[in-house]
This record gives sequence, C-alpha cells and structure tokens, in this order.
Amino acid sequence: MAVKTAVFPVAGLGTRFLPATKAIPKEMLPVVDTPLIQYAVEEALEAGIENLVFVTGRGKTAIEDHFDVSYELEATLRSRAETETLEMLNEIRLRPGQAAYVRQMEPLGLGHAVWCARHLIGDEPFAVLLADDLLHPTGDALKAMITEHEATGANIILVQEVDPVHTDRYGIITPGESTETATEVVGIVEKPSTAEAPSNLGVIGRYILNPSIMDRLASTRPGSIGEIQLTDGIATALGTELVSAVTNPGVRFDCGTTIGLIEATLSIALERDDISTDVRALVKRLG
Ligand code: UTP
Repeated sequence: MAVKTAVFPVAGLGTRFLPATKAIPKEMLPVVDTPLIQYAVEEALEAGIENLVFVTGRGKTAIEDHFDVSYELEATLRSRAETETLEMLNEIRLRPGQAAYVRQMEPLGLGHAVWCARHLIGDEPFAVLLADDLLHPTGDALKAMITEHEATGANIILVQEVDPVHTDRYGIITPGESTETATEVVGIVEKPSTAEAPSNLGVIGRYILNPSIMDRLASTRPGSIGEIQLTDGIATALGTELVSAVTNPGVRFDCGTTIGLIEATLSIALERDDISTDVRALVKRLG
C-alpha cells in the first residue's frame, strides 16, 4: 500500500541543547539558515508524502507558525517589493489541511509520541522522521524505504554502520538474510554496550511502519531510561511481521548533538554557492 502520511515526533525536551532549547524547540535550530524540521518536511514531500502529522508538546508552537502564513512579515516584504524572499516563504508554507498537530502532553518517549498519532494514522502504513537526524542528500533514503515497503509490505528501518564503540547511542539490529535492497531484521535492541551489541548496524531516525505498530506500542512498557521506546514496539513485531533494514545511501548528521549540528552546518555551508568561498576561507583562518 502507498505511504502517504509522515509522523514527525517533535515533543522531546531537547535537553542536550539547553539553554538554546529552553523557549524554542530543538527542531527549529538552524543548519545554515534552515530549521531542522524544514529539512525533514522537504525530505518527506520529495519522497511523495502528502499528509504531515506533527506530535508536539508545550512550547512548540514555533513549528506550527513556521509552516503557516506570517501576515505582518509578508505584508512588509510586499511593501518593500522583496519578491524573491516572498517566493521562498511561499514555498515553505504547507497547504491548508496538509498538516495536523497532536499533543503528546508528556515526553514519555519516542514510541509514546508515535502512538499519540494513532487516530490520524488509521489503517494505513506511515513514515516516521526524526528531524534531528539530518540526511544528506535528502529524499534518497526515504524513497528507497518506501519502494521496499511497497514491494514487500515489511516494516522498514533505516540503518547505517556505526563505530562499534558507540553502539550505546543507537538501536542496534541483528541482521538476517539480505537481498539487493534490504536486510531482514531478526533482532533489535536499544542502546546496547559494545560487548552486548549484536552488530554495528545502528538505527537512524527514519521508519516506515504498518499501522499494527500502534497496538504494539499501546502495550509496550517503558524500557531504556524509563521511556516507551519505538525500538521496543518494533521488537514485538519480529517473528510475526516482516521487519527489514535499508542501508542509508547518503550521509547522516546527528543534529541531536552539538558537534553533529556544527558538522552539518559546516558541510552544508561548504556546498552552498552563495557562501562556500567565504566559509572555506573562514575555516582555514580559524583552523
Ligand atoms: P531525542 O531523545 O533525540 O530528543 O528524540 P530529546 O529527548 O528531545 O533530546 P535530548 O536527549 O533531551 O537532548 C528524538 C526525537 O523524538 C522526539 C524528539 O522531539 C526528537 O525529535 N521525541 C522524543 C518526542 O517527540 N517525544 C518524546 O517523548 C521523546
């Protein structure tokens, strides 16, 4: 079945970015001049997603405003005849009814955030995108995942090889048989130590899930760090439903950490025609 809806869990506290995230959502932090959530939304739209569901919490209204009309700003730009900027703002705006916002109320974990979207998902498969994992180039991974899901009906997880000393930062899969496009997942564990990790294939923040995950999440108990983990919900599908892993074809920046956000900013700035020369000179001077 076609994947038409994406869920963006954006209700976390973003504690690793305090004080920046005290009053603004982590997902609004910019990489160069574009907020993380906008990269994720553009990625979903590029992959053919039509409906967007944001799982938000208190203090996250900046995300709703970002994708809405900004009358005062647009009127001022119009009076100054700043047409290019107006066009850029116009492109960001979502169509009426294209986005829905649901509150998580308490940040009880990623699995709980996804479960909060259950009424908006209904009986169809859906994508989950974590905006703090910035994929570059955008779109390729999600397109490959959707193609794999549409061919096999499997739940699809995006993975990449991670440094074995850092397995405790990821969900780690036990790989089974592989085809040219995907690897069967026979086990999955959240944040194992290097010694306990079944492989070095780490889960990154893109998923295509069948709607049956919602019932699984409803009965998933809090696991690692007291949160209801999406990984634990997916683990209960193993053996009953097909779960496959697609390898990320591009680069992933971990923008949930300060160093990852800096790396993403520098890498993307160095590719931008309008600023790359200046950024290169700056890096040389500082380095
Ligand atoms: P993270 O664990 O990376 O985000 O969750 P966090 O908890 O906000 O960050 P730190 O660790 O305190 O710095 C990954 C994604 O899942 C969302 C977050 O908003 C983020 O986009 N999330 C996490 C929720 O929506 N609800 C939750 O209860 C937890």
